[in-house]
Amino acid sequence: MTQDWLDACLLEETAPNAATTKACEGAFTQGSGTLHLRGSLEEGLLAAPQNEAYMRLPANVTIEKPRHPRSKCGTYLPGVTGSHPLLREELVNLPNPLWLAPSFEGERYDLDRCDTRNYRRVLDMATGELTRSFRWHTRSGAVLHCRYRRIVSKARPNLIVQTASYTLETGAGRLAVTAGIDADLRTNGYDHFSRVEQSAEAGACQTLVETDTGDTVYLAARMHSPHLAFVPDGPGGKHLAAETVMAPGQTVTLTKLTAINASRDADGGGFEALARLLNGAGEDAEPLFAENAAAWHDLWAGCAVEIEGDTEAQRAINFSVYHLLRCAHSDPRVAVCAKGFSGEAYFGHFFWDTEIYLLPFFLHTRPETAKTLLSFRLLTLPGARKNARAYGYPGARYAWESGVDGTEQCPNWQYADHEVHVTADVVYGIWRYWRATGDEAFLRDSLSVLVETADYWLHRVYPAAPGVWHLNGVMGPDEYICLCNNNAYTNTLVAFALECTLEALHLAGKMGWPLPRGPAADEAWRQKAAAVAAGLARNHRPDGLILQCDGFDDYEEPHFSTTWPDRTKLWGSVVSQEKNYRTKALKQADALMLPFLFPDRYSDASVRKNLDYYLPYTTHDSSLSAVVHSILFTRLGEAGQAYTLFERAMNIDLDFAGGGAAEGVHIANCGGLWQAVVLGFGGMVPAEAGQAPEFHPHLPPHWRALRFRLNLGGTPHLVTIRDGAATLEPCSRDATADGGN
Ligand code: BGC
Repeated sequence: MTQDWLDACLLEETAPNAATTKACEGAFTQGSGTLHLRGSLEEGLLAAPQNEAYMRLPANVTIEKPRHPRSKCGTYLPGVTGSHPLLREELVNLPNPLWLAPSFEGERYDLDRCDTRNYRRVLDMATGELTRSFRWHTRSGAVLHCRYRRIVSKARPNLIVQTASYTLETGAGRLAVTAGIDADLRTNGYDHFSRVEQSAEAGACQTLVETDTGDTVYLAARMHSPHLAFVPDGPGGKHLAAETVMAPGQTVTLTKLTAINASRDADGGGFEALARLLNGAGEDAEPLFAENAAAWHDLWAGCAVEIEGDTEAQRAINFSVYHLLRCAHSDPRVAVCAKGFSGEAYFGHFFWDTEIYLLPFFLHTRPETAKTLLSFRLLTLPGARKNARAYGYPGARYAWESGVDGTEQCPNWQYADHEVHVTADVVYGIWRYWRATGDEAFLRDSLSVLVETADYWLHRVYPAAPGVWHLNGVMGPDEYICLCNNNAYTNTLVAFALECTLEALHLAGKMGWPLPRGPAADEAWRQKAAAVAAGLARNHRPDGLILQCDGFDDYEEPHFSTTWPDRTKLWGSVVSQEKNYRTKALKQADALMLPFLFPDRYSDASVRKNLDYYLPYTTHDSSLSAVVHSILFTRLGEAGQAYTLFERAMNIDLDFAGGGAAEGVHIANCGGLWQAVVLGFGGMVPAEAGQAPEFHPHLPPHWRALRFRLNLGGTPHLVTIRDGAATLEPCSRDATADGGN
C-alpha cells in the first residue's frame, strides 16, 4: 500500500479527554470476527465502575441518553446472548479480559487522577493493533514511561495478546501490577451470569460464566514476564498480582495472553481447548503480533480503497473497511449486529442493515462472507415462521430485530409490529447475491425462504379493488411515520420479492430442483403472487414523485426553522414523539431508497424531483440516511451536495467530540460509506455473474484518483479511476496488496 494509505490507517487519540474516552472505546474496538473487544483502558477508570446495576428501558435508542458517560467495557462473542426482562434477547457483555493495573509506591494508576503526560493512543487499522504510551509522573516523584500493545488475533480468533512495558525514567521505587479477568460487570445494567467460577494459580487465572440462556463461556489468561512473578492475589485469590523494586532506568515487561471460547462453539469450547490454544501460542508476543499483522494484510489486500487527494476521506473509508473486516466471520449462526459487536446499543440484534447496507461491500469483495450473512437468514427460517404465527399468518416473517434464532426481539411495538419491509429486504439480499454470483446451489437452498415469505405477503395484503392490492398498517424505513398505508418502499420491495420468487420457481422447474414445502406447486397461489406483484399500490405519481405513503402530503409541516433551531441536536430529541409522528419530518431516506436500490428504474429527473421534495424534510437522525442521499446527488453530477452528505456520513463515527461510536460503531454507515465511494463516486454499476461491471465515475473535484479492489468471479481485480476514466484489471493478491500506482 502507499504511505498515504498507511498513514490514514492510524486512528489517534493524542491527549486524554474525559469527554471523548467512550467514543474512542467504540472506535478503537478490535476483533477477529469471532471475538470483539472495545477499546477500553487496561486498568479501567475508577470513576466508571462496570458493575452498576440499573434497568435500561426499551426507549428509542436513537435519542435516549446513554447511562455510562465515561466508559463502557465490552467483550462480545457473537451469538452468546442473555435474556433481559424488558429488552428481550441481548448480546452479553462478557468478563473483561483486559484487566492490567499498575501501582507505583502505593499510588494506583488512573487516567483521571494521575499526572499523565505525552499521552498517545493509536489504533493501527492496517494491523488491528492498539497501542498506548504515556509518561506517568507519580506522586513519589518517579516518572514511569508506560507502553501497552494489544490485539485480538485475526490469526487465532479466540486469542487476545497484550503486552505492557514500564520504564523508570526518573526515581526508584516499587511497581506492583494486578491482572486478571473481571467478571463483575453488567450488560445494560443487567447481570446475565447465573454462574461465575474464578480461580488463579501462579502465572495463570481462569473464569467460567454461564449466561441465563445457558451458554457457558470460558476464559483463561496466562502471564509471562522476565521481571514479575505473578501469584494469586491472596489466599484463594481469583486474580493475579506481582511486584518488584525498580532501579532507575530499568524496564519491566510482561505479556498477557487470554483465550476465550464458548459451549456453543463447534467443539463445545472448554478450558482444555483454551489450554491447547495457549500452549500453541507460546510465550513470545512478537510472532503473535506478526502473524496477526499478516492476516490483516491479507484481508486488506482484497478490500482496500485508496483515495488520492483527501486524507480525511481516506481515513474514514479505512475506518469503515476496518470495522467491516473486523466483523467478517464464517459462522452462519450469526449475522452482524447493528453496532458491529462494539457496544450495547441495539442489544446485539440483527436488522435490515445487513442486506441493504453491509451486503454490497461483502458481495463485491468477499462473496463468501456475503453468503455467510445470508445463510443466517436461511438458518433462522424457523424463527421467521414463528414470527408469522405469532402475528397470525402462515409463511415466514423476518424479525425487525432478529435474535440468534430469528425470532422477533424488538422491545418496541411500533417497529416490531410494523416495520415489515425487512422480510422483503431479506429476499432482495438473496436475489442480489444470486445475480452477482450465479450460485445456483444457494438459490436452490433459498427457495423455502422465498416461498414462505411470499406466502406471508399474500396473506398480509388487502384486496382494495379488483386487481389492486394494499399493504396497510406498516412503517417504512422512515421511522418517524409510525403507521401508514402503502409505503412506497415497502410495497415496491414486496412486489420485487414476489417477482423474484416466481422467477426462482420457474428456474427450479427448469432445473428439476425439488420444490420446498408449502404452496410453491399450487398454480392458483402462483397466479395470486403474480397478481399481487403487479397490482400492489406503489404511490408512484406520473410526474415522477414517489409519495412515501398514502396521504403523505396531508401530514403536517414540521416548520424546522422555528421548531429546530439548533441543528447540532437530533430532531427526534427536540420534538415529542406524538408531534413527530404527524409531521412530514423524515428520520431517514425512505422513498429515496428506491432509486438507491433500483437505479435503472428511475430517471435522473425523477431522482431530482424526489430529492427536491424529501431532502428539506429529512433530518438524517438515522445514520443510515446521509450515504443514500450522497449517492443520489453524485448520480445527478452535484458534486458539492454529494460531498457534503458524504462528509456528514464520514463524521458519524469519527466525530469523537459529538459522541461518535461511544455506544458502538454504526456499522451500516460503514457499509454505506463503501457504497458511497464505490457505487457513488466510483460510479460502479455491478454486473450479473460472469460479466464485468461498468463505471461512470464522478470523483469529487479534489480527488486526484481512486483505487479499489473487487472480487469478480473469484479473481481479485483492481479498479483505478483517474482523469474521469476507469480501468479494471485482474491482479495477483500480492500486487493487490502492494498498491498499483
Ligand atoms: C434506523 C433503522 C436501523 C436501525 C439499526 C435505526 O435508527 O432507523 O433503519 O435499521 O437504526 O441501525
